[in-house]
Amino acid sequence: MRAPETYASVFGSEPEVVASAPGRVNLLGEHTDYQGGFVLPIAIPQRATVSLGRNGTDQHQLRSANLDHSLQVAVGETGESFAPYLTGCFELSGVKEGLNAFVSSTVPSGGLSSSAALEVATLRALRELYGLALDDVALALRGVQVEHEFVGVMCGVMDQMASSLADTKTLLLIDTRSLERRAVPLPPNSEVLVLDSGVPRRLAESGYNERRAQVEEASRLLGVAQLRDVVSVAELSGLPEVLQRRARHVVSENARVLQALGADAAEFGQLMNASHASLRDDYEVSHPQVDVLVALLQAQPQVYGARMTGAGFGGAVVALIKEGAAALTSDVLFDYREQTGERGVQVVP
Ligand code: GLA
Repeated sequence: MRAPETYASVFGSEPEVVASAPGRVNLLGEHTDYQGGFVLPIAIPQRATVSLGRNGTDQHQLRSANLDHSLQVAVGETGESFAPYLTGCFELSGVKEGLNAFVSSTVPSGGLSSSAALEVATLRALRELYGLALDDVALALRGVQVEHEFVGVMCGVMDQMASSLADTKTLLLIDTRSLERRAVPLPPNSEVLVLDSGVPRRLAESGYNERRAQVEEASRLLGVAQLRDVVSVAELSGLPEVLQRRARHVVSENARVLQALGADAAEFGQLMNASHASLRDDYEVSHPQVDVLVALLQAQPQVYGARMTGAGFGGAVVALIKEGAAALTSDVLFDYREQTGERGVQVVP
């Protein structure tokens, strides 16, 4: 068997800095973070790791172990494929010299913030290499700026904030308008289960940007700065039908996050189930196979609640389950395969 690739095996010297950052799973508060709403993510154990060293040239040498792909990008250029995630961080951090970068990640792609983990790990490595004065919130916001300006995804702030600030033990409530945050314990006797549906996220980017445009239009028509400012779904009745459903998701989802604070596992789980129905029917960002997996989980007596997580259009599913009950996964994944032909994978625990 071939020894695993490292920075040293690729570049022939040791890196100057090594940093990592976790992926995240969001328990409640989906598609609210670009309308000033509330989110409730937790970090997952899987991480992206970035090793950096100066190479004394005017070219960046970038290596992704996962993609088995090497790229050379001139200092000041953005590059293609996985390069913008790194070069965006370099540019926004004022890097003026060639760097060698070795990237590897255990965060599955599809709803668990693999790209935010890569950005936060890269920015942590740069902070250490250059002694940048960047606190963990500013670092997260720089990651968001990389997505907007270099990758072209108009994401909200949740993923980079979670990757930069959350841990794997406690939920992190984030007010995405003020960026205030607070640790929230998981309900007693519960734990988080994450499954990858195996459904690749096609249409995710165009669908995401379209939803974002729709809720921006809805808030404009309502005369509010953000849908965060709408307290009751009754205020939405004058909107055109599609916009009304999109806005109803955001407004009801914000209420669900606030209701979940201090809820027991049973109530928390019901809120997750309601969130899934809202994302499926009102926001229309789920996927038929993902709906099957969610329904199979919801039918298990040891599952308090289950829903799609992340941007949607395929990808991951999250459940709140009875502590120690993760063995239920094998039956669920067996039935899922029978019904859909898809091979799901357990990601957490
Ligand atoms: C993606 C985005 C986040 C958030 C979620 C949906 O993960 O990067 O900002 O909008 O989708 O909640």
